[in-house]
Amino acid sequence: MLRTRLTDMLGIEHPVMLAGMGGVSYHRLVAAVSEAGGFGCLGAGAMTSEQMVDEIRKTKDLTDKPFGVDLLTALPDQMMQNVQLLIAEGAPVFVAALGVPSEVIDLCHDNNVLVVNMCGKVRHAVAAVEAGCDLVVAQGTEAGGHTGTVATFPLVPQIVDAVGERVPVVAAGGIFDGRGLAAALMLGADGVWVGTRFIATPEARSAPGYKDALLATGEDGTVVSRAFSGKPMRVVRNQTTQHYEEHPEELKPFPEQMMVAVGDGVLHLPQGDEAEGVDPQRECYPAGQGVGAIHEIVPAADLVHRFVEEAEAALARAAPTR
Ligand SMILES: Cc1cc2nc3c(=O)[nH]c(=O)nc-3n(C[C@H](O)[C@H](O)[C@H](O)COP(=O)(O)O)c2cc1C
Repeated sequence: MLRTRLTDMLGIEHPVMLAGMGGVSYHRLVAAVSEAGGFGCLGAGAMTSEQMVDEIRKTKDLTDKPFGVDLLTALPDQMMQNVQLLIAEGAPVFVAALGVPSEVIDLCHDNNVLVVNMCGKVRHAVAAVEAGCDLVVAQGTEAGGHTGTVATFPLVPQIVDAVGERVPVVAAGGIFDGRGLAAALMLGADGVWVGTRFIATPEARSAPGYKDALLATGEDGTVVSRAFSGKPMRVVRNQTTQHYEEHPEELKPFPEQMMVAVGDGVLHLPQGDEAEGVDPQRECYPAGQGVGAIHEIVPAADLVHRFVEEAEAALARAAPTR
């Protein structure tokens, strides 16, 4: 048993959190991770409010264990409305992918909902804790999806030093097995937040060709590109990223570039398995640098258990009897 401040705060068995990945982390995957004793998080960033409510209800049909809802929106009114809905539906944790206004935090706390903030820099973590967030995720540049510039190894202990006495810190970015969990604990984190590894599971929702692309991509096969949204996103390198590397003057700002990507037929993440006309050589497949370690599709519950067993073994190896 790896008991940490995180497991105590969330009321879970294992300090392994599923990242709230837009287009991917839907009810089947979220419930599988929570049922296995980890913490599932719905990626509601690309959902309508109705879809979000439906996904929360479907998750609750599959598990009684705690889970969270991750929202991307930068628009305060829309965030307030969605947070009110997730409170009404009984989700116990709200994850803000971007900053979170203090009224939203107060509303969550008045309703016993914990607030988590994704952070790529020390100052983001300090601001999040000062605003009242209950825990922070320190996400390094190795991460799949939208990402910053500081790597996980230096970022995590610096965020731990800045806010770790006040709130639990969760490490993210390039973590794909129990060695990564052990390393995160050694760096002072209280658990891990894992994205890419959980996409290669039977339960993950995914656009056609996505899981195959993960199995085929090596550790150097990702690139941070503005090609699909206008903001830096780590994805599998392909013809589309190559095109914009050669023609950066064609890039539009966020969110215009996202409309361009949809119009060009290279962004099907929100449609998941139902997407049609996907060309894997051009499609947006977000992935972290740990992708090179993914060689098989593994049920999500098995992954949660492997994370814990491997971390325990790694920690035992790191502290041999003297
Ligand atoms: C397909 C995909 C979609 C993502 N969407 C979101 C999102 O909507 N909100 C968010 O906070 N993070 C999002 N992320 C980032 C993850 O939350 C997480 O920080 C990242 O996956 C961790 O790194 P890893 O992929 O190396 O495990 C996404 C990542 C991926 C791979």
